[in-house]
Amino acid sequence: MANRFVLNTVSYHGKGAINEIPGIAKNEGFKKVFVCSDPDLVKFGVTGKVTDLLDKEGIEYILYSEIKPNPTIQNVKDGVKAYKAAGCDSIITIGGGSSMDTAKAVGIIINNPEFEDVRSLEGVSPTKNNAVPTIAVPTTAGTAAEVTINYVITDVEKVRKFVCVDVHDIPKYAVVDPDMMSSMPKGLTAATGMDALTHAIEGYTTRGAWELSDMFHLEAIKLISKHLRQAVNNEPEGREGMALGQYIAGMGFSNVGLGIDHAMAHTLSAHYDTPHGVACAMLLPISMEFNKDFTGERLKEIARAMGVKGVDEMSKEEYQKAAIDAVKKLSEDVGIPKTLDKITEEDLPQIAEDALNDACYPGNPREATKEQVMDMFRMLMVK
Ligand SMILES: NC(=O)c1ccc[n+]([C@@H]2O[C@H](COP(=O)([O-])OP(=O)(O)OC[C@H]3O[C@@H](n4cnc5c(N)ncnc54)[C@H](O)[C@@H]3O)[C@@H](O)[C@H]2O)c1
Ligand SMILES: [Fe+2]
Repeated sequence: MANRFVLNTVSYHGKGAINEIPGIAKNEGFKKVFVCSDPDLVKFGVTGKVTDLLDKEGIEYILYSEIKPNPTIQNVKDGVKAYKAAGCDSIITIGGGSSMDTAKAVGIIINNPEFEDVRSLEGVSPTKNNAVPTIAVPTTAGTAAEVTINYVITDVEKVRKFVCVDVHDIPKYAVVDPDMMSSMPKGLTAATGMDALTHAIEGYTTRGAWELSDMFHLEAIKLISKHLRQAVNNEPEGREGMALGQYIAGMGFSNVGLGIDHAMAHTLSAHYDTPHGVACAMLLPISMEFNKDFTGERLKEIARAMGVKGVDEMSKEEYQKAAIDAVKKLSEDVGIPKTLDKITEEDLPQIAEDALNDACYPGNPREATKEQVMDMFRMLMVK
């Protein structure tokens, strides 16, 4: 089967990129925009940076912000209702993965109403029509939902998160402006940045990885390793590097998939509401250790991209350890916790089963038994 690659139609990058938005909206003939953001971003004036531009140019919109982190089926259904009630014809989404994923689900249901139950979109969604024209503006440097064909929704009743994969759902435009990210506090910058590193490392070692995706993932690992510490200190160069690094990681993983780290992270968020980036980061050294002998020489290239010197003189064991240590050091430097006290021994069979049923698991280079997944979760438990 041929390898497929899907990217945004157009993307804008760099400081001040949001100034392009009114022009795009006018060229596209947007009559009434559904602005999809979250309540905190509205409160802290981040959403306003874009809506002020729309106001100035007289572009009509409604603001929808009933979104919680790890967005729910209800958030999507309410969004669809609000979109229809206001008679919108387009979407501008401003936020992290939660706002962008909600907007992506709304945009696909509007043009494919047979999926209005939301649950039926799980997995490879068999939709027929493109989502409504969407401009995605990330405010975190992490998920890269602005350039991926995926979105992740929480099913509160079934206590699970589910991933939807749909080429009809990639935002037509991405506007990646590091100034939209500068208000992120340290902890959020660290967690979302480690999510991006996890995308790059899992994407580089996933089963479907190939030359084109490798090119993106290695560059993303370099950029993120170089810039995450600076971004956590809110230095402009760090913000620029992370805005780009996370986007490049998204260009890659969206097209080839991820692995067991994301499968387990989705489960932690569904059961304990753990922030996505924190879950991914805590599991990254654990999943790399589990997969290391099933990834050929790839950990050597990861170590090199993370700035480890002398990898060519190292034995396999040495470069594998060097790559995993570099990840641990970065996590530690940016303050990622090592344990999650909410996990209990009784929960383990269920969360391990949920992880093995997650859409990201089949991409993992090594098959895992339920017992092995339970052991990996156990490593996060407070002793
Ligand atoms: N679509 C994809 O391909 C993809 C990939 C990975 C993760 N995800 C999903 O994305 C979600 C996580 O998204 P996220 O990590 O970007 O966080 P988020 O969107 O859940 O936001 C977390 C919190 O950070 C705040 N915030 C966001 N930007 C800010 C800023 N600039 N300044 C101050 N506060 C800010 C938000 O208001 C919110 O309270 C999860 O549901 C995850 O499963 C999606
Ligand atoms: Fe992620």
